This record gives sequence, structure tokens and C-alpha cells, in this order.
Amino acid sequence: YVIGVDLGTSAVKALLVSREEGAVTAEASREYPLYHDYAGWSEQEPEDWVQATLEAVREVAAEAGNPSEIKGLSFSGQMHGLVLLNKDKQPLRRAILWNDTRTTKQCRRIEEMVGEERLLSITKNPALEGFTLPKLLWVKEEQPELFAEADSFMLPKDYVRLRLTGDAAMEYSDAAGTLLLDVGRKEWSREICEAVGLPFSLCPKLLASHEEAGTLQEDIRNATGLEEIKVFAGGADNACGAVGTGILEEGTVLSSTGTSGVVLAYEKDAEKDFQGKVHYFNHAESDGYYSMGVTLAAGHSFSWFKNTFAPDKSFEELVKLAESSPPGAKGLLFTPYISGERTPHADADVRGSFIGMHASHTLGDFVRAVMEGITFSLQESLSAFKAQGKNVQKVVATGGGAKSSFWLQMQADIYNTPVVKLKSEQGPGLGAALLAAYGLGWYASLQEAAGEFAEEAERFEPETENVLTYSRLFPLYQEVYASTSSLS
Ligand code: XUL
Repeated sequence: YVIGVDLGTSAVKALLVSREEGAVTAEASREYPLYHDYAGWSEQEPEDWVQATLEAVREVAAEAGNPSEIKGLSFSGQMHGLVLLNKDKQPLRRAILWNDTRTTKQCRRIEEMVGEERLLSITKNPALEGFTLPKLLWVKEEQPELFAEADSFMLPKDYVRLRLTGDAAMEYSDAAGTLLLDVGRKEWSREICEAVGLPFSLCPKLLASHEEAGTLQEDIRNATGLEEIKVFAGGADNACGAVGTGILEEGTVLSSTGTSGVVLAYEKDAEKDFQGKVHYFNHAESDGYYSMGVTLAAGHSFSWFKNTFAPDKSFEELVKLAESSPPGAKGLLFTPYISGERTPHADADVRGSFIGMHASHTLGDFVRAVMEGITFSLQESLSAFKAQGKNVQKVVATGGGAKSSFWLQMQADIYNTPVVKLKSEQGPGLGAALLAAYGLGWYASLQEAAGEFAEEAERFEPETENVLTYSRLFPLYQEVYASTSSLS
């Protein structure tokens, strides 16, 4: 067995993965709170991650029967979050997360200090509020007494791994989301550190995702019931999601809807130029890369809608109501910008909207509009890939958007591309487990490992009539941004 830990934004999930059965045989998850003390802030307590991880790991480890059969563990983690450590490796404050948007000022200054073009050519990405470097500068400027004690920084799953092993390290796929990594050369950029006035010594040691990062410390072995097993570096949740769903060659694209939504495509090299319109990061597969568009509030838009307007209904009931509304929700359009947007607008201040409300609209129309709005937003990323000449043969769907056949068909119709659902829905956690299995030498390549787990279960072909309806509505959806961005 190997264990894959997926450190998410609302919860951590641990998976027990059996090599013999080629399947996930147990899973456990634990939630932790998010703190939004001020508008735009989003923080978590690193200690909550550690305790929740230990509990979830303990629960799945018990399912293996004999603990000596568990040989390795690895991580998938929410990206970009800043965990600032002092010289004793203690967090100096709560972690500032990927969906925190307080750093617009810092982003503009990074562009000035480094130069927009230079930043893009080193990191392959523009300065966005969610990335780690602007968060480091925010602490430096707003909490200088605390920053003076900073000795290094970690990303969320790297901090949890540090607590489990005692060894501090980061790996390329997550480091790529800091805006401090030279993504092509796979090394920290001294030039950027100097330009923005950050000590280079803050940047930790770098590993490949399948490399061993240490072994479990004694107190952790006691807390989890595990033996002194190898812990592998792991990867960013999106990179691990791509491993777990077999996005390891050009032509396949992942559409994943968690709290955020992403559309992700495998890239063989660091050369493709999207001019920063989509993210470009190192893959968890050593020599690969991926391009990715992000919808900040995908599942979050749906859960916000449910909690605000229909708290007594389940998601299944709401989806059922949406099914009785026709494609286009009778002229009701939703834009999912409830916490700003990343792709394609990179605008933390834009706000969401319902456009075209009429007295005849029902709750089902609203739910359908929300689901369509989220999918239109993902379609903006997919169309950016297609505009670059990418030949997309199929889209693999995971996350909440893959749980209902209705939403899967809607994706096929809006993307005008076949959409595939896999047997296992465990993208990121499974990807983490496969990195451990590959690190242990159980497979000759990650492709081989993923091949055993990422089997197609169902395929949804685009339906011509719906494709036509959506291709008329998509330009209208796109116009909403241009018409409303100045209002917020
Ligand atoms: C990616 C991003 C999110 C988080 C979610 O750039 O910010 O997808 O990784 O965990």
C-alpha cells in the first residue's frame, strides 16, 4: 500500500491505495476552518492541517490490517499559500491562502520592480494576488516586526510534510506557483529576490515530486500507527490531479471543479508562449509542464448559491431542479466572479452577476444558470488553449462537476468536445499516492502507474443542438465582464 494525502482548502483527504488491487481501498477526511477576518482575506491555521492530516492518515492506516504493508506516503496540496517560518521552523502567523486577494498593491509593485516582461519570461506567469511572492511582500510591508523573524517559507503541504519528517523542502510543481521560481531552469530566481528586496535565503531546498523527502518521525509514527516509511515530496494539487487522471501527454485536457475550477493541459516543454493569459507551471512528472486556466469560484459559486438561497435543499435536489430548465436557463446568465476572477481576466475586484432575470424564472433556472456560468468560465480557458492551436481530443472531468451526468453532458455541449469520466474520482489524492508508488520503484514511469488507475468509465459526446445554443450564448456571457467590470 501507499498513502496519498490531499491537503485541500476545506478538508484534508487521505487515501489508502493498494498496488495489488490497483485501486483506492480506503479513504478518510477531516475538515478545518477558513478565516476571513477582513474582506478579501483567506487564512488557515497550519496546526489545523497537521492535526487533521494525522487523524485522517491514522484512520486509513488502520484499514490496511498490517501497518508494515504500507510502504510510502506522499502529498498533494492546495497551491500558493504562504507559511512563514522562524529559525526554529515555527509558523510566524496563520497561512495566507491562494484565494486571498489582499495583495493587489504588491502585484503592481512587483511588475514595476522586476518588469512585466522579465517576470513573465522567468516565471512564465504574471503577478496575481493569489501567488506567494505578493503575500511575502505584504507581510514584509504590513507586519515588519514579524517579517524580521522570518527564516524560510513553505507552501501548505510542504509545511505538513516538514512536521511529519522534520525535513524542510519544497518541490518544483508547487514552487512554480510562488512567482519566485525560474520555471524553465527549475531554480529559484536570485534576480527576482534582489529586485523585490527579499533575502534569497528564505527559499527552501527543491526536490522533484517523486523524490524521497525524509521518513516519518517517532511522534508521528505513534500518532498514526505507521512504521518508519518513506515520505515523497508530492506535488501541487493541480499537478497531482493531472497525474491521478492520466494527463501526462499532449492532447488530453483536465476540467476539474473543486472550490476553484481548473482547465489544465499537459505541455512537453517550457517554450510555449501564452503571454501569461493562462498559468504555466512545472508538472509533477519531472520533465513536463502544464498550462492551466483557473476559475476562482467554481464549486464555491454553487455552494454559495445553495447556502444563501436554498440551504434546505441538497445538491442532488438542486441539480434535479436544474434539469427541468432548458439549455440557456430561459435567458438567465450567471458570471461566477463572486471572489474576483483569474482566467482570463486576472481581476480581483470584479464581482459576479445574474443578468436577464425575469418574473417567470424559477429556482431550477437559477441553478442551471449557475452551473452554466461556471462551465462558461472554464470554457474561456479551454478556448484560450484552442486559440493557441492545441488539438483537444477529449476533456477528462473530475471534482464536483463530474459527479452528475447532467453536468458532464453540459460540459461536453459547452466545450464542444467529448468529456470523459474516470472510474476513480480521486484525482489529486490518487496522484499523490502514485508519486509515492513511482518513488518506491513500483512502476517504470508515472504513465505506467496512471495507466493502471485512470480508466475511462463513461464518455459524453457533444449534442449538436445544445452545442449551437451554447455557442450563441458564450459570446453574451463574455460580454458580461466587459459591461460590468467598471461597476465594481
Ligand atoms: C491554482 C489555484 C487553486 C488551488 C486550489 O493556481 O490557486 O486551484 O491550487 O487548491
